[in-house]
Amino acid sequence: MRRKLIVGNWKMHGSLASNAELLAGIRAAEPFNCDAGVCVPYPYLAACVLALQGSSVALGAQDCSAHEQGAYTGEVSAAMLADVGCRYVIVGHSERRAMHGEGDQLVADKAKIALAKGLVPIVCVGETLAEREADQTEAVVKRQLSAVIHTLGPCISRVVVAYEPVWAIGTGKTASPEQAQAVHAVLRTQLRAATEGADQMKILYGGSVKPDNAATLFAQPDIDGGLIGGASLKAADFVAICRAAS
Ligand code: 13P
Repeated sequence: MRRKLIVGNWKMHGSLASNAELLAGIRAAEPFNCDAGVCVPYPYLAACVLALQGSSVALGAQDCSAHEQGAYTGEVSAAMLADVGCRYVIVGHSERRAMHGEGDQLVADKAKIALAKGLVPIVCVGETLAEREADQTEAVVKRQLSAVIHTLGPCISRVVVAYEPVWAIGTGKTASPEQAQAVHAVLRTQLRAATEGADQMKILYGGSVKPDNAATLFAQPDIDGGLIGGASLKAADFVAICRAAS
């Protein structure tokens, strides 16, 4: 059985004081019977790495540059993230695809450099409401994943995939366990065609995961944990979701 993974995506929330309180609350509930991580805003990585010393909760970032280094004002490289102690980096979150125009190939390039620098990329895919209503869900997520498979080749087995239907993010509308499982199964099948390691890969679900719906989602055969937005900002909720994954 695959060990479940719960990752908090704090997005653009927090402060030195509130982060310290949140991490202390999470640490007080350790150990968890699942893998766990938090993806925090760049300025707080250094403080969070200290706050997580000796913890099994891993640190991650929410994006990285596709470039190695150089004159890219405002960007942060994968090597820098690894240097400060990150294990994970989210790439291709729908908020970046929608608000920053990130396309499939750029996302794939970010996943590639993240892997090369020793990070585990969490590659997000997911359809909009309009795409779901037009019966395009499968085509969209396969297209998004296919760019990453094509760019990484067999190394695809080292990434974490996150299915996040855009219509379920921050809306309180969760995909039903059956809807989510159906897409996860499509992604697993696509991965099986690319790597022998597909059955060991983690495919996370994200989109309004809360303590009260987490267990039924995680009970689905191809849902290996969650990428948690809003509920990861409250220690009690994040801990409850980690327990639901145990
Ligand atoms: P919510 O859990 O707030 O819906 O956010 C999901 C998400 O976008 C995680 O990356």
